[in-house]
Amino acid sequence: MIDMHCHIIPKVDDGSKSIDISIEMGRLAKECGYNAIFATSHYIIHDNETENNEYMQKINELNEKLKEENVDLQIYPGNEVFFTNNILELIQEKKICTLANSKYILVELPLFTKVIPLNVYDEFNRLQDAGYVPILAHPERYEFVSEDINTIVKLIEAGVLMQSNIASIGGKYGRHAKKNIKKMLKYNMVHLLGSDSHSTSVYENYNKYIEKIKKVIKDEKIISDILVENPNKVLNNEKIDIIYPNIKK
Ligand SMILES: [Fe+2]
Repeated sequence: MIDMHCHIIPKVDDGSKSIDISIEMGRLAKECGYNAIFATSHYIIHDNETENNEYMQKINELNEKLKEENVDLQIYPGNEVFFTNNILELIQEKKICTLANSKYILVELPLFTKVIPLNVYDEFNRLQDAGYVPILAHPERYEFVSEDINTIVKLIEAGVLMQSNIASIGGKYGRHAKKNIKKMLKYNMVHLLGSDSHSTSVYENYNKYIEKIKKVIKDEKIISDILVENPNKVLNNEKIDIIYPNIKK
């Protein structure tokens, strides 16, 4: 099982504050049943730009450290890219990492806008034309989703995959995100689950969150798809076949 979204690399963003915390996060992730993690450090243009060589070095260092500490967990490169209209160029210039060098790229949007920024569709289109598959990070957290859940349906119909945070179901991001993720799970609008861990806390509460998710999704096959199979497909750069949302517009 692979964690789709995690800020485990120390001191590159607002995630892990030290190598010791990263090791502890790895240990707890392993206990939850993960055997790999996509490191998805924030990349925010003009604000949090990680230098690629240095970033890859940090990933290698963490993998080495985990081995030394007997934590059998593999960290793969990735980024959580804050939306900009040159994501394609950033990939081509190797300034940002797709997930484990696959065609899948994790993108986040501004949290507080009542409507989705207009140029999002254009940029996602450009990425798709170049062979990439955009994955939207934590859709349940966006204000425009609380305003109109059908925006997610439109994005899915445009070929964008949805990665939800497991802790949203426990209210970690407020009541709107909790309500949104419940609805998204119920209507097959979640394709991938991730922890979005910035420290140890989500892993510490992992079982509690998964229990709550299983109360909404009763179908074991769907749970397995969004937790295990689809993240594996990302790692192996395989196509993810999705079930289209069964929400009534
Ligand atoms: Fe994140």
